Amino acid sequence: MQLLEDMILKYGKVRGGNVLKVDGFLNHRLDTALICELGQEFCKLFEKEGITKVLTVESSGIAIAYATAEKLKVPLVFAKKTMSSNISDEVYKVPVHSYTHNNDYMMLMTKAYITSDDIVLLVDDFLANGCALGGLIGICEAAGAKIAGIGVAIEKGFQGGGDLLRQQGYRVESLAVIDKMDENTLEFRANCK
Ligand code: G4P
Repeated sequence: MQLLEDMILKYGKVRGGNVLKVDGFLNHRLDTALICELGQEFCKLFEKEGITKVLTVESSGIAIAYATAEKLKVPLVFAKKTMSSNISDEVYKVPVHSYTHNNDYMMLMTKAYITSDDIVLLVDDFLANGCALGGLIGICEAAGAKIAGIGVAIEKGFQGGGDLLRQQGYRVESLAVIDKMDENTLEFRANCK
């Protein structure tokens, strides 16, 4: 998506450890017009799939998932990373390891909010090794829900998570795929949405 690629080139900063900092428009300060466009694009890509829920994980995926769910006119649900009194005891718990943050956590989802009747669109802001999406897939499998596809804003193609998910048969639509990045270079994969 040209608009997103332009924003990454203009405001993104490459940090050590293969991290792209986009906190000026996607992860900390949010460009609401851009996020609405991302939601519109995912809606266009998946509107014929009979989606009943959009699913993401807190926190940075929520804004894009909200914009997508609003356009698709379905509820948004997001997995939590910490237990709180707001969550019922009836939860799916899926262990996730994050290479990016170098930590392990439990992804939590109230059982009543994803069921075997659901056709789910997974949405996240970043796709690196795919651990966070792996956790969301685990929740859908535990619930018996169908996964219609995966919508990602920025895929770091060189980390391989996206291609692994495609090999597993998932429809992964990334609006910008970075195939190479360092302090001086940022190369996008041609022909992404
Ligand atoms: P992983 O396998 O390397 O852990 O990557 P994964 O795709 O599972 O993403 C893990 C988390 O790290 C995600 O956040 C994702 O948004 C974030 N992330 C991965 N690579 C980058 C990057 O280059 N830049 C930025 N800004 N974020 C990145 P999350 O678990 O959904 O939580 P949160 O950080 O949104 O709270």
